Amino acid sequence: MASDAPDEADRARLEEIQALRVRFGEQLLLLAHHYQRPEVAALSDRLGDSYELARHAREAARARFILFCGVRFMAEAAEVLRRDGQVVIHPAPESGCPLADYASAGSVAEALAALEAVRGRDGVMPLVYMNSSAELKALVGRRGGAVCTSSTAPRAFGWALAARGALLFLPDEHLGRNTARGLGLTGADVALWDPDSPGGGLAEERLARARVLLWKGHCHVHTAFTVEDVAYTRARLPGARILVHPECPEPVVLAVDGAGSTAFLVREARAAAPGSTLVIGTEVNLVSRLARELPDRTILPLRRSLCGNMFKVSLARVLDALRALPDAEPVRLPEEVRRDARAALDRMLEL
Ligand code: 13P
Ligand code: SF4
Repeated sequence: MASDAPDEADRARLEEIQALRVRFGEQLLLLAHHYQRPEVAALSDRLGDSYELARHAREAARARFILFCGVRFMAEAAEVLRRDGQVVIHPAPESGCPLADYASAGSVAEALAALEAVRGRDGVMPLVYMNSSAELKALVGRRGGAVCTSSTAPRAFGWALAARGALLFLPDEHLGRNTARGLGLTGADVALWDPDSPGGGLAEERLARARVLLWKGHCHVHTAFTVEDVAYTRARLPGARILVHPECPEPVVLAVDGAGSTAFLVREARAAAPGSTLVIGTEVNLVSRLARELPDRTILPLRRSLCGNMFKVSLARVLDALRALPDAEPVRLPEEVRRDARAALDRMLEL
């Protein structure tokens, strides 16, 4: 494994970062997602999955500046949830998420109109994964729907089905299918909406009867894991426990020993017995960090799969953002987008 010792340039950056943090004290809160580079994760006041980070952003009463180390949709969610007078700063504003890009607010508005033409007004509850633009969260908020993350998806699906009998889940088909199966829904209940085909590529009968409509979208970091990877690991390491993130395709999730959010994967690794072997199918920076944190157990990646967007946040970018305080360029959203996206995020946090 490569050495984690910082090189000379990083040592100098770390010193300056620490000095700036002392200068801003409690006015500055540094939030980081579990997929951040190790040196960035090590700097965080709070490290978490996307649900925990949304809660921390909402509860950050003392901070004037929230420096969000993650991808854009996470920093935007913090911007929606922040208090008046706070600013959210994203050190790498160009780091998007290809999964989030699968669903634009315009294409979802069209899909909802087509679904409502068949099922009637409010005949389907829109549910949007945290991995989505603020504009799409706002549309979902206006239509009475909610945001969910991988850790709250089962609760959110239950709520949506109880409220309207059917839901449209955006934009990750795999998390949607894995969640529906976990709730006992099967093939006949679940349909895939393809935004590139007229009517989602579904016959009217399917549109009218499906209980869970899944938007056709995926995360390439997680579709990289295959059932062949699982079979290879089982053959090579027969005693290993294999866990994956639920953005992995259903056949992979069915072949392994458990699936859950990044916080779940961290909890399971920490709870594993010393001497045991754990193989984890998620972004490789998290797996490597767990392996370093827990050297008395063997923790390996199911395959090396890196999120290049998470990786764009580096010590150099964090330092640039801190040097620019108090005038760093904040994350900005139109006020009506903040208001309506907040309704969808608050529903998630209250479920
Ligand atoms: P978590 O909510 O599990 O942290 O997942 C976020 C994510 O982007 C996974 O790809
Ligand atoms: Fe998006 Fe996938 Fe990266 Fe998560 S791992 S931020 S879903 S591209």
